[in-house]
Amino acid sequence: MPHVLTAADLPVPEILRRAEEWRTRLQANPIPPIQPRAALIALLFYEPSTRTRAAFEQACVLLGYHPLVITAEVSSVAKGESLQDTVRTLCAQGVRAIVMRHPQAGAPQTAAQVATAPILNAGDGAHEHPTQAMLDLYTLWRHYEMPDPRTRWLAGRKVAIVGDIRHSRVARSNLTLLAQAGAEVWLCAPPTLLPDAPFPHATLTHDADAAVQDADVVMALRLQTERMQHGLLPSLNAYRRDYQINAERLQRAKPECVVMHPGPIQRGTEISDEVADSAQSLILEQVRNGVCVRVATLEYALGE
Ligand code: CP
Repeated sequence: MPHVLTAADLPVPEILRRAEEWRTRLQANPIPPIQPRAALIALLFYEPSTRTRAAFEQACVLLGYHPLVITAEVSSVAKGESLQDTVRTLCAQGVRAIVMRHPQAGAPQTAAQVATAPILNAGDGAHEHPTQAMLDLYTLWRHYEMPDPRTRWLAGRKVAIVGDIRHSRVARSNLTLLAQAGAEVWLCAPPTLLPDAPFPHATLTHDADAAVQDADVVMALRLQTERMQHGLLPSLNAYRRDYQINAERLQRAKPECVVMHPGPIQRGTEISDEVADSAQSLILEQVRNGVCVRVATLEYALGE
């Protein structure tokens, strides 16, 4: 029973293959025939989500399962139940898998210790967001015409991740998969938004122009104000001036550079409208690919 708790748990070539098969299937028939099963997959979402939750709900439906969405406000967590007891309860009721988003780093690991069904991490605090990193990688893999995923197919490519690195589970999970594929990864943030812990497979900088210089891929990240202490930034205007991904800053990147963002976007803060909506932007392609990657990951975790 494989859990997917971190990006390192993902069998990348297998998920890429399965996601591509689903993409082909859904392109041929966007509403494919479904064999409904009398079985549930629980989606425990203790933090807000649009993209991830919608993609996992769609993934459940495509596999014939009923998605049982439980949020903290409407669950017995509000009456003091522990996460472990919630997980034990759902497993006793026979759910086939539990997809969970939680504000605490490490919550999926805690759940996995008592679960009798696979746990899929849909984002835990500032720790990991494995399926986001997987769909980002899938998007790049398709963009670069599907090279052999068992090779270091991103070798020679510079990927600059710019924004609130300290609070970003997306940056952490992406670094694992991008480095595995051989990319040269730059992580760029103001001094207060870079992590204290070392990142052995990345170049860390406070200089966004240097990070973007000659980049093949620029990924902008949102300021995670919900996880931020006050006083980490001098002003939003200074942040925009020094870190926003806009047309002027992108001129430093390679002409064929593509721009990514995991969403949700704060337009005019970490990315300009012009860049978010440009031909260089893969943002909506990331969203579309999110469905195929979530079906692929669920299938893998369910052993189907
Ligand atoms: N990227 C991402 O996790 O978006 P949601 O918070 O909308 O799921």
